[in-house]
Amino acid sequence: MALLEIKVLGAKVLREPAAPVAAVTEETRRLIRDMFDTMYEAEGIGLAAPQVGVSERVMIVDVPDEEGDHRVHALINPVVVESDKETDKEIEGCLSIPGLEEMVTRPVRVVVEGLSPSAEPVRIEAGRLLARALQHEIDHLDGILFIDRLSPLKRGILMRKWRKKRKG
Ligand code: NI
Repeated sequence: MALLEIKVLGAKVLREPAAPVAAVTEETRRLIRDMFDTMYEAEGIGLAAPQVGVSERVMIVDVPDEEGDHRVHALINPVVVESDKETDKEIEGCLSIPGLEEMVTRPVRVVVEGLSPSAEPVRIEAGRLLARALQHEIDHLDGILFIDRLSPLKRGILMRKWRKKRKG
């Protein structure tokens, strides 16, 4: 088990578009294993490679569905290929902005395509929490954080809270 350091808001890597993975290798799979270890240790439901300082298009999620079963996915080069016009608003947080949460509006359902850790094409039709988690993590690969999805007013309030927390 290997735990990676989770980068927090202010780290440059969180704001850079991540590079596509040219070839899925043993190194990619090791990164994914370490990301799962790191995510579970931090009690998160999703993690993107830039959050552990690796600017590559790799992300993982482990989200409970309505039946309480876990939907676990590791995706390489994921792309949202379809997204619903219908949106909903739910509370979101981020391991890179610990302690802050806010309601974020996103499409209810999305279809995401990417590669599995064994380099097989994957297509996921997701709704609700899984759809939200996938969109949140794919945003990370474009250097986008959930705070960017808020109104300037809400973002301002959160950023003041954040600076206060950091000062201790
Ligand atoms: Ni996040």
